Amino acid sequence: MASVDVGIGLLGYGTVGSSVNRMLVEGADEIERATGHRLRVVRALVRDPKKDRPFPAGDGVLTSDFAALRDDPDVHVVAEVMGGISPAGEYVRELLGAGKAVVSANKQLIARDGAELFAAASAAGVQLRFEASVCAAIPVVKVLRESLVVSNVHRVLGIVNGTTNFMLSRMERGGSYADALAEAQAHGYAEADPTDDVTGADAAAKMAILATVAFGSRVRYEDVERRGIEELEAAHVSAAADLGMVIRLVGIATLLDGAVDVRVQPALVDRSHPLAAVDGAFNAVMLQGDAIREITLEGPGAGGLETATAVVADLVSVVGTSGTGFLQNDACWRELDRLPPVEWSSEFFAHLEVSDRPGVLAHVTSRLAAHDVSVAQLVQRPADGAATLELVLHRAPLGEVSGALREISAFPEVLRPPFLLPVIR
Ligand code: NAP
Ligand code: HSE
Repeated sequence: MASVDVGIGLLGYGTVGSSVNRMLVEGADEIERATGHRLRVVRALVRDPKKDRPFPAGDGVLTSDFAALRDDPDVHVVAEVMGGISPAGEYVRELLGAGKAVVSANKQLIARDGAELFAAASAAGVQLRFEASVCAAIPVVKVLRESLVVSNVHRVLGIVNGTTNFMLSRMERGGSYADALAEAQAHGYAEADPTDDVTGADAAAKMAILATVAFGSRVRYEDVERRGIEELEAAHVSAAADLGMVIRLVGIATLLDGAVDVRVQPALVDRSHPLAAVDGAFNAVMLQGDAIREITLEGPGAGGLETATAVVADLVSVVGTSGTGFLQNDACWRELDRLPPVEWSSEFFAHLEVSDRPGVLAHVTSRLAAHDVSVAQLVQRPADGAATLELVLHRAPLGEVSGALREISAFPEVLRPPFLLPVIR
C-alpha cells in the first residue's frame, strides 16, 4: 500500500478548496505515477466546519482554528484558497515563516502584497506559487516563467475575467445585465463580492501579476488603470455589432521603450480578432514577443474544478522541485518606469450624443484635427431631434484623443459626455 508522504493543508474549503480535495482524491494514482508521491489533504481551515460540503473533507479534516493547521507537523504544503487580503495575508506570512510552502489562488493578495510575500518565502527558503491566481485552468504563469524565459515578451493582451466575459456574451444575445450576473454567480465564477468582477478589480489584479511575470518588473494592483463594465449600455453593444465588433473587458500590458503600461477596460474587438471568439467564462491571453511573434492561450478562466487544476499543478511542482531551488525565486529582476497614461496609444471608438444642427459635425472633426486625431469611420443616427455620432478614430495617443473630446464636450451642442473605448483589431 502506498504511504501518504505529503500532507496538504487547505486555507478554505469552498468552490475551489473542495475541488482541490476532490481532484487529489480522484487523481491520487495519476499523481503518484507522475511524482512518486501521494498527496492528501489532512487539514482544511473554514469558518464553519459544520456546513454541508459538496465533496466532504473526511473526519476531523475541517477546522476553524488556524493554529491547528499551521502547527500540524503532517501539513507540508498549504494551498491558500480562501480569498481576501486579511486574514489570508497574515496566515500565508505565518505559514511561510513556519517553513511551509504555499500555493495561492488569491490574485488580490499576490497583486498587492506579492513583493513582501516573495521576500518572506525567500527568507524562509520555501516556495510560493500562484498559477491559479490568473486565468484558472490556463497555465500562463508557467509558460511565461519557463517556456518563454528568453522571448522578450513586450505585450500581453487578455480576457482574464470569466464572469464579465460570461455576462457580455449573454448580453450580446439579448440577456440583461442583472440576469447574466446572477447566472455567473450561480456557476461559481464570480468573486465572493462580484463588485470585484464588474468593476475590473479582479482583472486588474490578474493583469498586474501577468505584467510582473512577463516584464520581470513589479507591477502592483494600484499601478493598473482600470474601468469596469458597469457603464455599458445596450446601445454600446448594438453600436459595436453594427461596426462588425463585439465588446469585451480586455487587459492590455505594454512594455514600450523600457516603460510599462497596464490597463483593464471594455474595448471594441473586431470580430475577426481571436479575442472576439472568446465566449462565456473562457479566458484568453495573447503573448507577443520578439521571436515568438504571438502565442495565444485560451481556456476556462473560472470555476472550482478548472481552478483546482492549477492549484494541484502548483502543489505537484512544489513537491517535484523542493530542495533544488528550481524556480522558487521571485520573478522580478529590474525596476521599469511607468509609461505616462497620456502616451499610451490605440485606435478608439467614441460615442457622442449631439443636437442635429448644421455645423456640429464640422466642429467635432475640427477639434479632432487640431489634436492630429484622424477619423477612420463615422456613423450618424437620428435620435428624437438629436443625433448620435459613432466615430472610429485612427491610432492616436490617449492624451490627444481625451484632449479633443474634452474640448468637444464643452460645445453646447454636445448633450452628454462622450463615451470612449479603445478598438482592438
Ligand atoms: P469560496 O467558495 O467563497 O470559499 C472560500 C473558503 O474560505 C470557504 O471555505 C470559507 O469557509 C473559507 N474562509 C473564508 N474566509 C475565512 C476566514 N476568515 N477564516 C476561515 N475560513 C475562511 O471562494 P472560492 O470561489 O473557492 O475562491 C477562493 C479563492 O480562489 C479566491 O481567492 C478566489 O479569487 C480564487 N479563485 C476563484 C475562482 C473561482 O472560479 N471560484 C477562480 C480562480 C481563483 P466557509 O466555507 O466555512 O464559509
Ligand atoms: N471571479 C473570477 C472570474 C474567478 O470571473 O474570472 C477566476 O479568477
